[in-house]
Amino acid sequence: MMIYFDNAATTLKKPREVTEAMVKAVTTMGNSGRGVHESALDSSRIIYQTRKQLAELFCVPDPKQIAFTLNATDSLNMAIQGLLKPGDHVITTVMEHNSVLRPLYHLEKQGVTLSFIATNSLGVIDYELLYKAIRPDTKAIVITHASNLTGNLVNLTKISHIAQEKKLLVIIDASQTAGVIPIDVTDLQIDALCFTGHKSLLGPQGTGGIYLKEGLSIQPLRYGGTGVETYNKDQPQSMPTLLEAGTLNSHGIAGLNAALSYIEKTGRQTIYQLEQELMIRFYKGIKQLPGIKIYGDFSTFNRCPIVSLNIRDLDSSDVSDQLYSEFDIATRSGGHCAPLMHQTLGTINQGAVRFSFSHYNTNKEVDEAIHAINVILSK
Ligand code: ALA
Repeated sequence: MMIYFDNAATTLKKPREVTEAMVKAVTTMGNSGRGVHESALDSSRIIYQTRKQLAELFCVPDPKQIAFTLNATDSLNMAIQGLLKPGDHVITTVMEHNSVLRPLYHLEKQGVTLSFIATNSLGVIDYELLYKAIRPDTKAIVITHASNLTGNLVNLTKISHIAQEKKLLVIIDASQTAGVIPIDVTDLQIDALCFTGHKSLLGPQGTGGIYLKEGLSIQPLRYGGTGVETYNKDQPQSMPTLLEAGTLNSHGIAGLNAALSYIEKTGRQTIYQLEQELMIRFYKGIKQLPGIKIYGDFSTFNRCPIVSLNIRDLDSSDVSDQLYSEFDIATRSGGHCAPLMHQTLGTINQGAVRFSFSHYNTNKEVDEAIHAINVILSK
């Protein structure tokens, strides 16, 4: 049976309840906000409950400040394109995924200026450099909570202190952390938190969301039907309707709802602990092997459950192919949509083989991966 270590791309094994909830939703749920019959109301109830669950998870005072989106890329586009305008200076980092970089490069063509904060060779950003990059026209810090390549976490408390002192907006990409690493948007004074449902939140693909701090003025990315204020030519201005034009993915949201209940029942900390143990077991099992190069900062194990590596000078895609064809082990290789991080690590040509763990993985699976790496090394 396939051993799945590509959980940073999407978690493949979902709680059983997610499937059950989605099957029920597909056969029973109508269109939220578009009718007063029981099926439409069922849909509204699930959507409302899920907003509440997410608000509790991220310490959002008012669930209405969370809008549902397609995924983190969608949310990041909303935040970046909706909050920034020509003339603004934005600070970001080389850790970012293309979901942050490409919307920013798009705005750069329209007159937004960008500064990229470098990392050291372990992929850790220098907060002093970030502080020094602030200019009078700096409007925002757009930053990931964790690198999808190295698994290194960003210290959001430090970012928050800098942003509060300099009165900057903070836009966070929580794609790799939502659901497992605690995020308190109120305490951290985050302006926009962008997350996806299909990774560590254990929900289905096509779900995601954005939290927007109350009182912030945002230009929506999409315009259209909302089920309210039909005769208004403008998009309704109140959250979440402002950012939710069109029929929501209520079937997916029903799955996310079940996933959030599962996380609450199992315990976020328990899930985190299990994932850490698997990552540490794998890391310790391979780190001494001659010919292995591991990327990222492992001086602390407070990180995402990701181990990216290369074997000698072998192409990462060839290694990933071998792992899959010979050992049935699924990983992700290549560029991981993180061009600047690869540039920093010197791995643009080779890429890297990324192992990313879920709490559903087992020690036995990790040991099989360690064995597979030993076999490849011995060739
Ligand atoms: N952003 C996802 C990854 O890192 C797809 O693989």
